[in-house]
Amino acid sequence: MFKQKLKVAVIGGGSSYTPEFVEGLIKRYDEFPVSDLHLVDIEEGKEKLEIVGGLARRMIEKAGVPIHLSLTLDRKEALKDADFVTTQMRIGLLDARIKDERIPLKYGMIGQETNGAGGLFKGLRTIPVLMEITKEMQELCPDAWLINFTNPAGMVTEALLRYSPHKKVIGVCNLPVNMKMTIAKMLQTEVHRVHIDFAGLNHLLYGLDVFIDGKSVMNDVLNIFADPEKQMSMQNIAPIPWEPGFIHSLGLIPCPYHRYYYKTKEILDHELEAYKSGTTRAEVVKRLETDLFELYRSPDLSIKPPQLEKRGGAYYSDAACNLMSSIYNDKGDIQTLNVQNNGSISDLPHESAVEVNCIVTKNGPKPIAVGSLPVSILGLVHQIKSFERTAAEAAVTGSYQKALLAMCINPLVTSDETAKKLLDEMLEAHKNHLPQFFN
Ligand code: G6P
Repeated sequence: MFKQKLKVAVIGGGSSYTPEFVEGLIKRYDEFPVSDLHLVDIEEGKEKLEIVGGLARRMIEKAGVPIHLSLTLDRKEALKDADFVTTQMRIGLLDARIKDERIPLKYGMIGQETNGAGGLFKGLRTIPVLMEITKEMQELCPDAWLINFTNPAGMVTEALLRYSPHKKVIGVCNLPVNMKMTIAKMLQTEVHRVHIDFAGLNHLLYGLDVFIDGKSVMNDVLNIFADPEKQMSMQNIAPIPWEPGFIHSLGLIPCPYHRYYYKTKEILDHELEAYKSGTTRAEVVKRLETDLFELYRSPDLSIKPPQLEKRGGAYYSDAACNLMSSIYNDKGDIQTLNVQNNGSISDLPHESAVEVNCIVTKNGPKPIAVGSLPVSILGLVHQIKSFERTAAEAAVTGSYQKALLAMCINPLVTSDETAKKLLDEMLEAHKNHLPQFFN
């Protein structure tokens, strides 16, 4: 049934990204009429929720749309009868991310929010909470879609698809949107004319072919990618240039995150410098967030401030709004999403999460068939998928052995002896947010 009034619950509503989400809803109000928007947070996030909620209220008033806004610490009240639930949480707040980045670096390994040991720990903290949310959804809003943009989105989607009773789960990332925008800019054309055949895993996404108005321009894009003067990256990843020979022989468009695997040494050197100067990405983001919330407090501000674009996750929320509207309106458009593979990438299990182009209908996203991936990337994709699956199992079961195994099979963690020391130190550091390992 086509509902005229929709309820949306945002878990982690006090996030600095929320103004973009609210802007996305306002912009689409005519086609996607949200009547109830619930921003939910936890006690520790109360102050941020109030600040961001105040800005959201001013934005809604200024736009003159009849969206009723509720700010709450009561998750169940927010979930009750929701049509869509979005999750954008950070368990342990930014201080936990600082540990995810700094502790591995102490051992001479890359420390990152979604890759390596840091990504593993973010997953171990996040997955149990999302499992709990999906259980509540089964009871309070069984027909609602869960749209998750909490990182590590690939591992989280894998875990929920395998272990949660609630199967209406979609993982969203801003990276495909970002790559498309950047490539359009490189080609000096408008974004809507560009189509990219994307396939891979979250933060391990490849462009297999690029088209303008249906005509392949892959060679032009590869030439641009091979030109050290024209490199692209994201706010949160150093724009270390690609080797021209590598790009031409790969014959695919790598995503900015591929630098962690194909440019490991350069990225590590860059991160070790940041470690010394107290400027790892999480430390920079913590300062950025302080400035953003200072701006949000101002009663004169009633739009999303442009400064939000300094965050790597810009356009995330817009992608989520786009997705919800396409489901609601049965648009049948193509979006790149984290969904159950179902045979789309023939080399990966049917039940695993993959990031691929999907046709979005009222019954959810339908992955478009990709077939087999080129042999040159298959090994890495399999290795990261094994890591995600093992990590997801560790997160759900609290098994130390599985967590150690996940650590050891991650290509950014160097040896099992160090891996064990690193694992033990990180378990201890994040103890308060890992009850499954300590009870
Ligand atoms: C990229 C990724 C996101 C991630 C963000 C981090 O955009 O695709 O998944 O959340 O970077 O940005 P930040 O500003 O928090 O470092």
